[in-house]
Amino acid sequence: MKLKDALQIEKTIPNATPKFRFIDLFAGIGGMRIPFDELGGECVFSSEWDEFAKDTYELNFGHRPEGDITKIAARDIKDHDVLLGGFPCQAFSNAGLKRGFFDTRGTMFFEIQRILAEWRPKMFLLENVKQLRGHDKGRTLETILSILNGDAPPIPDDIPMSLEARKSLQKKLNYDVDFKVLSATEFGVPQRRERVYIVGFDRDHYGNVDASVVFANLEQREAVTRLSDALEPEGSNEVAKYTISDRLWEGLIRRMARHESKGNGFGHKVFGSNDGYCNTITSRYYKDGREILIDQSHMGLNPRRLTPRECARIQGFPDWFDLSACSDTQLYRQFGNSVSVPVIRSIATSMLKLSNRLEAGNNKVAVG
Ligand SMILES: C[S@@+](CC[C@H](N)C(=O)[O-])C[C@H]1O[C@@H](n2cnc3c(N)ncnc32)[C@H](O)[C@@H]1O
Repeated sequence: MKLKDALQIEKTIPNATPKFRFIDLFAGIGGMRIPFDELGGECVFSSEWDEFAKDTYELNFGHRPEGDITKIAARDIKDHDVLLGGFPCQAFSNAGLKRGFFDTRGTMFFEIQRILAEWRPKMFLLENVKQLRGHDKGRTLETILSILNGDAPPIPDDIPMSLEARKSLQKKLNYDVDFKVLSATEFGVPQRRERVYIVGFDRDHYGNVDASVVFANLEQREAVTRLSDALEPEGSNEVAKYTISDRLWEGLIRRMARHESKGNGFGHKVFGSNDGYCNTITSRYYKDGREILIDQSHMGLNPRRLTPRECARIQGFPDWFDLSACSDTQLYRQFGNSVSVPVIRSIATSMLKLSNRLEAGNNKVAVG
C-alpha cells in the first residue's frame, strides 16, 4: 500500500462481536493497536505510565490506559488472545547505557513474561530497537527468545525483577518464536527506521506451528514512497512556524563542522521533499530537530522542523489520528517513541492469517 492510501484508512468502529481480544502493553499512543483494531480485535487492557501519552491515547481510543505495569498483578488483567508490547528500549539502544537486563528499563521484558505465564495468550507481538539483536553479543535476545520458548537456563538472582516475575519464571512458556529486523522503508514509510519484531505462537494451543511463516508472508514489502507524500505543501501556513532560527541553524552548522573534523557523525541532516526517506525520528526530536530538517533554501529560508502531523505521517499513522491532546513537544516525543504503523499492519495481518489457517485445522503451515 502506498503511504497516501495508508494515511486515508478510516478509523475502525468497534465491532459488537470482536474476532479476538488483545492487550496493549507499554502502549504509548497506541501505534501497535491500530492494525489490531482494524483486524476486528477488541482491546481489553492497556498500560502506559506517561500521563501525556495517556492523554493522546484516550482521545483517540476512548479509554485511558492503566499506569505502571510493574504495580499491576497479572491476574488483574483480563483474558486475551494476543499480547502486544513495544517494551522500553533505552537500555538496549545506542543512546542508552547498554546495561540491558541490569537496567530496570531492560527488565520490562520480565513484565511481559509474567503476563504471558499467567494468561498464555495464543499469540504475541513484541517490538524493540535493532540494537537488541547485538546487545551483549546477542545473549540478551537469545535469553529473551529462550524464555519465550521454554528452554531458558536459570536467570541469575541478581537480575532485577518483581517477585511475581521471579516466581512466574517457574512456569515454562511454550511459544514457537521468531524475530526479524525490518526496515520501515520496505513498507511504504518514508523513514529509515529499523526495529526488531518478535512474534510467538503458543504450541500448547496450536500444536505444530512455525512462527517464521509470519515473516515469510509479509505483504507490502518494497512499497516505494517519497518524503513529499508526508509533507505539508511548501510555504503553507502549517509549516511557517517550524522554520528554525538563525541562531540554532548557525549553531548546528558549527557543531557539524566540529564533529566532522574529528571524523564523527553528528546525526544532523537536511532532507529535500524528493528524498525517498528521512532519518529515524527519535524521542529527542523536540530538542533541536537536528536529525530531520527540511530544506527550504530554494525559498531563501533556513531549514524547518517537521510538524507533528508530518511526524505522524512519517510513522504511517492515519490522518484520523487526533493530535489535539498535547503540545508539540509532547507529540514529538510520542511519535519518536512510537512505531511505524504500516509495518505493524503487515505483521498483524500475517499473524492473523496464520492463526486462522491453523484454527481451521490446516496444520500444514506452508510458506508463500
Ligand atoms: C517504546 S515506547 C512504546 C510506544 C508504543 N508502541 C506506541 O506506539 O506509541 C515504550 C513505552 O513504555 C512506557 N513505559 C515504560 N515503563 C513503563 C511502565 N513501568 N509501565 C507502563 N508504561 C511504561 C513508556 O512511557 C513508553 O511510552
